[in-house]
Amino acid sequence: MYTQSFNVPDGQAADTREFKSVLSAHDQEVLNAAQSRFDAVIDADGKIEPKDWMPEAYRKTLVRQISQHAHSEIVGMLPEGNWISRAPSLKRKAILIAKVQDEGGHGLYLYSAAETLGTSRDQLLDALHTGRAKYSSIFNYPTLTWADVGVIGWLVDGAAIMNQIPLCRCSYGPYARAMVRICKEESFHQRQGFESLMVMMQGNAEQQSMVQDAVNRWWWKCLAMFGPPDADSTNSTQGMRWGIKRVSNDDLRQKFVDATVPQAKVLGVTLPDPDLIWNEARGHHDYGQIDWDEFWATVNGNGPCNKERLATRVKAHEDGQWVRDAAMAYARKQQSRQQAEAA
Ligand SMILES: [Fe+2]
Ligand SMILES: [Fe+2]
Repeated sequence: MYTQSFNVPDGQAADTREFKSVLSAHDQEVLNAAQSRFDAVIDADGKIEPKDWMPEAYRKTLVRQISQHAHSEIVGMLPEGNWISRAPSLKRKAILIAKVQDEGGHGLYLYSAAETLGTSRDQLLDALHTGRAKYSSIFNYPTLTWADVGVIGWLVDGAAIMNQIPLCRCSYGPYARAMVRICKEESFHQRQGFESLMVMMQGNAEQQSMVQDAVNRWWWKCLAMFGPPDADSTNSTQGMRWGIKRVSNDDLRQKFVDATVPQAKVLGVTLPDPDLIWNEARGHHDYGQIDWDEFWATVNGNGPCNKERLATRVKAHEDGQWVRDAAMAYARKQQSRQQAEAA
């Protein structure tokens, strides 16, 4: 579903500059040459690959961003997964299962991409399960009706696509390549959400009001998905310099608002913002104030479903222990058989 469009520190930070003072003159020269090669690739809009030298701070920023993104995909399976057993028809159930399964796949590609930077899957999952790592705040809200499933597809996956398309051009090769496939699947997620809402809006008054209620509850949270305003985004400048972040939070948010307003008209729903209005001079829609206090409270663990989401993930991981044990036992058996044959 989804991405972590803001990058919140989760206890990892370092910079190669910290170590420079203890290097010998020769090592310093080697390091400077490596840094120059890295800078040249970034300046030429090229790709950094796992075996290339990279500054420690670049590596750590990527591990943090990609793992937060992976965690968001995996936790993002939960609010919609709640509705698989209650989908209103076989067709909707099949679509929802496919979508939730896609999100699981996105998480796996992204964990793999993060692992190429030298952090193990176990370390990444441990950070999530112990609450040190962040994931997107949007998944800490409940899905109260079936209309929420459609609205998540339309707006949450819609916001995710807006944020993720520029990541296909990210300077780190494995992340950029994972995003190409993810974006294709997100596009299906967005369209199935819109289509299911379209069907409900052609239904009875109760169905229509369910859709409007879900839009009212999710709209502002989707705008917050793009992260804090540019003026408050301390990490953005460095992320842009490194070719990790390509478009600013506010520009992405504006693109999302401008793209969504006409879709809401087609659907026949009202976006819950009295200040939302076309600004002829800017060539964009103006919109109201986002409640950042609520956003940060949720990011910091105090949203309505934070504890439930984390507990569900931890339980799923623990329940899957026997599968990992069996896979390891099988791998060991294969390895000793191969060794015996080679001997
Ligand atoms: Fe996804
Ligand atoms: Fe998605």
